[in-house]
Amino acid sequence: MAEAARRLKNPDTQRLDSTEAAQCYSPGLEGIPAARSKISYLDGQKGLLAYRGIRIEALAQRSTFIETVYLLIFGDLPDRPALEKFNADLVAHRQIKFRITDLMKCLPEGGHPMDALQAAVAALGMFYPAKNVKDREIQYSSVVRLVAKLPTIVAAYARMRRGDNPIPPQDDLDHAANFLYMLTGKAPDPLVAKVLDVCLILHAEHTMNASTFSGLVTASTLADAYTVASSAIGTLMGPLHGGANEEVLLMLREIGAPGNARAYLESQLATGAKIMGLGHREYKVKDPRAVILQSLAKELFARYGKSPLYEVAEAVEREALTRLAPKGVYPNVDFYSGIVYQKMGIEPDFFTPVFAIARVAGWLAHWVEQIQDNHIFRPTEIYEGVHDREYRPIEQRSS
Ligand code: ACO
Repeated sequence: MAEAARRLKNPDTQRLDSTEAAQCYSPGLEGIPAARSKISYLDGQKGLLAYRGIRIEALAQRSTFIETVYLLIFGDLPDRPALEKFNADLVAHRQIKFRITDLMKCLPEGGHPMDALQAAVAALGMFYPAKNVKDREIQYSSVVRLVAKLPTIVAAYARMRRGDNPIPPQDDLDHAANFLYMLTGKAPDPLVAKVLDVCLILHAEHTMNASTFSGLVTASTLADAYTVASSAIGTLMGPLHGGANEEVLLMLREIGAPGNARAYLESQLATGAKIMGLGHREYKVKDPRAVILQSLAKELFARYGKSPLYEVAEAVEREALTRLAPKGVYPNVDFYSGIVYQKMGIEPDFFTPVFAIARVAGWLAHWVEQIQDNHIFRPTEIYEGVHDREYRPIEQRSS
């Protein structure tokens, strides 16, 4: 492996023979670096996550989502004038074109909102040509449009799906509060808006995760930011990644009461099934974002009353501790996020779109970083099929 890695680094010897390639192969690219990055850092043994060097706990406590987006994209916290300009640009671009709304109106009501979001984001690129991806102004306007418009798209689809008209954005509300307003038509309780803003911070970025990787692969072909974001949205949707938040809530409902947690876990683990919201490729301790989400859930419960599902979740976590902690499997970010979103009145199939509203920041930060020093992603594979096979005409084939 070490020899193979040395050869890969040497531009004259970059092709490995089949034995060397087999030695390097790591399913799911586990442990294989796919990029150099200055955006975020995590230590999965210590439960540490930082964006541009700043710990997630400090950002959750002291920053806002929009300031965090600025930090991720531009590398530094903004001063007041820079933040005001960025915020004003975002507010000015919250509206979506009526053709985007019309496009979503034509989608089936029973479809998943993540599919609607992916379709709408891909279509955005047709309205805002942005092919010259190395142009700094194009980069800036693509970032602003995507960050600003994703909440409007998600809220519009949520309303149209149930037969209501979309509500236009309200300029004097901040990002999270405006999203809740566009969903419900009412300015939200400041505590609820603040909790959602912190949730967006927690989900904004997470090193080389599956959706970021898929966005980077697309970015490396010099596709525009809308195409990059729609690739990443498709990848986020799966239940092993962002889709887990919705699955966790369905699972907690199925368990129903804390007393059923043990039997549920035993029956699932006996069949080899995964428990949604537990485990992470990188964290081998409890995800620091899950710890923060738990305290946010408690803040909401203090105001609005406890959610019965929270007690079920705590029981699952307790039962899982004895069975799964030895494998380094603990709650991840998705384990408690659904309970928080549910308390805000967000429907379960909109949990993952809310994740996308946040993670677009990380995808775009990686997009900007990638195209500064681009190298198209083109890995290799280990061919395990046959060689030199004869073509047999159809009349000579038997089933
Ligand atoms: N429930 C039960 N067992 C688990 C779980 C789980 N959720 N997660 C991991 N394990 C066990 C595996 O069965 C395996 O055990 P074994 O060694 O005895 O076979 C061991 O822990 C290692 O698990 P892998 O699946 O190899 O770990 P990997 O790094 O490939 O997978 C993943 C990580 C996909 C997140 C996995 O933990 C999982 O499927 N979790 C449930 C889905 C989920 O919550 N996804 C959201 C992740 S966070 C995010 O993307 C935002």
